[in-house]
Amino acid sequence: MNSWNITLRPFRLTDVDDFLLWAGDDRVIRNLTWKKIASKEEALTFIKERCISHPWRRSICIDDRCIGFISIFPWSGDERCKADIGYGIAVKYWGQGIATQAVKMAVPQVFEDFPDIVRLQAYTVVENKASQRVLEKAGFLKEDSIPADP
Ligand SMILES: CC(C)(COP(=O)(O)OP(=O)(O)OC[C@H]1O[C@@H](n2cnc3c(N)ncnc32)[C@H](O)[C@@H]1OP(=O)(O)O)[C@@H](O)C(=O)NCCC(=O)NCCS
Repeated sequence: MNSWNITLRPFRLTDVDDFLLWAGDDRVIRNLTWKKIASKEEALTFIKERCISHPWRRSICIDDRCIGFISIFPWSGDERCKADIGYGIAVKYWGQGIATQAVKMAVPQVFEDFPDIVRLQAYTVVENKASQRVLEKAGFLKEDSIPADP
């Protein structure tokens, strides 16, 4: 396996060109709640409004260049002890352990940054085996999904 220099850091507007490479790729966006980013202008707006302003969204970097993201969505009110985690990386880096490493790096950081959080959780669609495997390798435990109301 490659020994990548992986870091997590806040997004910067100067990430825009690297960001567009994966945020404009259907294969990365497909399983996310993001809309596909189609232009540099849209990318700059998204980085400013949805990455830099996000409560906890980090750029996954190799040698300080943005190749993906990892985010935490803290719940609120009585459920502020919970947060959801999400991530995605550029297709050319898939299958090399990078997302797993990013999740492993993020988890202790999140517990430090959000003292109220005691549970980190993630949802994946059944077909997204790669994401399920990332979570499994990072130490998450599989739970059955909650059945819909009858
Ligand atoms: C999910 C995603 C982040 C995984 O990134 P990655 O860097 O390739 O992940 P890793 O290399 O750390 O681990 C992937 C694992 O899934 C496995 N995998 C990949 N495709 C698979 C498939 N179709 N079936 C079973 N396992 C699969 C890989 O073999 C690897 O496991 P291994 O190390 O035991 O061999 C990446 O595919 C991605 O960005 N997808 C689009 C966005 C997305 O789906 N985000 C998650 C939303 S819940």
